[in-house]
Amino acid sequence: MVEYRGSETEASERFPAGSAAFPHRDLLGIGQLERHEILYLLEEAEQWVQLNRGQSKHTDALSGLTIINAFFENSTRTLLSFEIAGKRLGADVVNMHAAQSSVKKGETLIDTAITLNAMRADAIVIRHSSSGAVALIASKVDCPVLNAGDGSHEHPTQGLLDALALRHALRGKGHAAEDFTGLTVTICGDILHSRVARSNLLCLQALGAEVRLCAPPALMAAGVKAMGATPYHDFDAALDGSDVVMMLRLQTERMQGAFIPSEREYHHLYGLTQERLARAAPDALVMHPGPMNRGVEIDSDVADMLDRSIITRQVEMGVAIRMACLDVLTRRTRGVEGWA
Ligand code: CP
Repeated sequence: MVEYRGSETEASERFPAGSAAFPHRDLLGIGQLERHEILYLLEEAEQWVQLNRGQSKHTDALSGLTIINAFFENSTRTLLSFEIAGKRLGADVVNMHAAQSSVKKGETLIDTAITLNAMRADAIVIRHSSSGAVALIASKVDCPVLNAGDGSHEHPTQGLLDALALRHALRGKGHAAEDFTGLTVTICGDILHSRVARSNLLCLQALGAEVRLCAPPALMAAGVKAMGATPYHDFDAALDGSDVVMMLRLQTERMQGAFIPSEREYHHLYGLTQERLARAAPDALVMHPGPMNRGVEIDSDVADMLDRSIITRQVEMGVAIRMACLDVLTRRTRGVEGWA
């Protein structure tokens, strides 16, 4: 981490007070956020990190509110952490799993949205396999909508939680700066299908990091350069001088046809091994949003490195970030002073 210098936010960039600090009704993507709004959500999450580390993890901030988690795709981390987040904030939380819902009987997405709205939810969290589906639902309901991942578009709370985890890890190394100016982050894997890659790219860039995206040619997204990232097909070259290495799994559920010759060959060229990690900066951090496919994109002895891997910290920060997002987005509903 030789080049990392970080920077403090200029006074002129500091987040405004009250509702102006986060003027959005919904959280649909990092692309909709200004830098100061990202920093605001990260700051707001800190109180929940502390709460979650204590013995009593409960507040009544969202008491009386109903949150519906409507997941049309599988999830462990995102669904559970949104559920835990809502419950720790005192809300009533209901999970809708599409596989057990009337979606299976042919109900449309719009009719499902209208149904959830009629139940007077105070916030709806949605994961869906189609890019843009969450924005469509947001346009049909009266309450805040949070995107828990839509197709290969965005996964904004993942981008935010990764930034929070990275910030905590850097603080642990003595870096007090609040942004990532001077930091080089390599994101490697199935960039083409990854909403995590897009949200992280946008978030990391907004906070000053240089982002390298590495994938086999068939799994590299178009327009990477136009988004300000440097594309690589050679993982070893991408790793050279990287302060952070974020690995992504192959999203086989979004692939039609063969994108790689074999998992064995993919691991040979793009798997993160201890040997390969040695090409990055000496104390480079390792991240992965999960779920991991050990032995494919990352070796177990790298994923479990106590001094380098912050994968479990990412999971921890997921709860705090989702608490912050639910808290901030429901302030208008709750009539919190300055947010009415
Ligand atoms: N990172 C992530 O979104 O994990 P899940 O699919 O388990 O929610």
